[in-house]
Amino acid sequence: MAEVLQKVIEEERQGEAYAPFIDDPTGFQKRFYIESYGCQMNFSDSEIVASILHEQGFGATRNFEEADLVLLNTCSIREKAEQTVRNRLQAFRKIKDKNPGMLIGVLGCMAERLKAKLLEEEKLVDIVVGPDAYRSLPGLITEAEGGQKTVNVLLSRDETYADISPVRLDSNGVTAFVTIMRGCNNMCTFCVVPFTRGRERSRDAASIVRECTDLFERGFKEVTLLGQNVDSYYYTNESGENITFAHLLAMVADISPLLRVRFSTSHPKDITDDVLHTMAGRHNICKYIHLPVQSGNTRILQLMNRTYTREWYLAKVKRIREIMPDCGLSTDVISGFCTETEEDHLDTLSVMENSRFDMAYMFSYSERPGTLAARRYTDDIPEDVKKRRLEEIIKLQNSHSRESYTNDIGKVFEVLIETSSKRSDRDWSGRNSQNKVVVFPKGDADLKKGDYVHVKINTATSATLIGEMI
Ligand code: SAH
Ligand code: SF4
Ligand code: F3S
Repeated sequence: MAEVLQKVIEEERQGEAYAPFIDDPTGFQKRFYIESYGCQMNFSDSEIVASILHEQGFGATRNFEEADLVLLNTCSIREKAEQTVRNRLQAFRKIKDKNPGMLIGVLGCMAERLKAKLLEEEKLVDIVVGPDAYRSLPGLITEAEGGQKTVNVLLSRDETYADISPVRLDSNGVTAFVTIMRGCNNMCTFCVVPFTRGRERSRDAASIVRECTDLFERGFKEVTLLGQNVDSYYYTNESGENITFAHLLAMVADISPLLRVRFSTSHPKDITDDVLHTMAGRHNICKYIHLPVQSGNTRILQLMNRTYTREWYLAKVKRIREIMPDCGLSTDVISGFCTETEEDHLDTLSVMENSRFDMAYMFSYSERPGTLAARRYTDDIPEDVKKRRLEEIIKLQNSHSRESYTNDIGKVFEVLIETSSKRSDRDWSGRNSQNKVVVFPKGDADLKKGDYVHVKINTATSATLIGEMI
């Protein structure tokens, strides 16, 4: 399941997968079915939506054919992500023909991007709700039940859903995501997120600590703090105290040494020494940073408005390794951004050579309507060139991943058991601090999900470490 989860997460990031969710017990008057696309933040939002729907007497079902309400929580990050959703809507058409009372709602970033236009383009959709408007869902559902198509895509400057306790959908009972901020102020020119998610705002620190404490008390052993740019987290509490991301990390880590803390995503311009020292100083803050580089060429980085240079990025990587020599590192890369030359592309490969990422999410540039890049630049790199460059990036990353995983052979890691291995019931699967999946035989030991064990690595693939308990 850890591998499955990992794979689902990877696919999500590429806008390709969905998660069928839990069945709630009987006792609910109505049933909803929800699929989530896109990033972990969308997943996390679906858990807020589930909580709001529970209050309205809707229980979750895994079978959309028996649902009164079908929801798609959508992603707009690349064209393909939107296409996947449109294809999925087609699949629901047949069921709606059979069961005309069933309501279909589109949530998330595609709802926000297309607004009421979505109702014209996709006739079977009844409800369109943007990421900041989920509290209005009950009212919208009532209107839609009365035959009225409804839209709420208002973005907010302060909505963080801080008081809503998420319903953990499809959970392994060990790891959970906790949203700490919403929106993004960065305006990377290729990116649709600032338009679909609105202005950046940080959630009340006390409510974050409360949620994480509650998770720990319910048996969860790992929380991942989520935001588009977690390093710019900043919250001023009632006593006038300013809480930075480094403070917040420490506060969550101090809940218990047995609660692991992860976070995603860091922006290279914002990650501070303070954060790195806080990580280094606490065993239970995982030694893993996802630090998207996007490109290795300073001119392209400028066109992307990433606000750092190649040298700045490399210096950050060096700093991370100085402070935490054992820190895992992964990245995001885009091939074929506007005007990218062959030399610029080689700079991306060489930044990868220099940084030696353990893992990467790699994409070819997909122009998104309304973004700064769409307005200012021409999407001038032919598809076949983007694709060939992407293949070169993937090939290089595969060799680095293989090298990184092979280098772990012989090492001993503390692993948090998440689930039985997908391949064999006789193996446990979990992750080490560096976020690598570790699989090992259960043997006779009396262990369970959520336990920590020490595992010595004997073999490795480019995505899994295989070992034995010591
Ligand atoms: N907030 C995170 C990234 C969120 S989107 C950050 O700033 O790092 C996840 C990844 O999708 C990005 O890092 C980028 O690599 C990719 N991406 C975003 N917009 C894209 C586009 N228009 N075409 C291709 N990839 C894109
Ligand atoms: Fe998009 Fe950039 Fe914000 Fe990340 S930091 S969400 S890439 S605008
Ligand atoms: Fe996609 Fe929106 Fe996340 S565009 S990547 S679901 S913030």
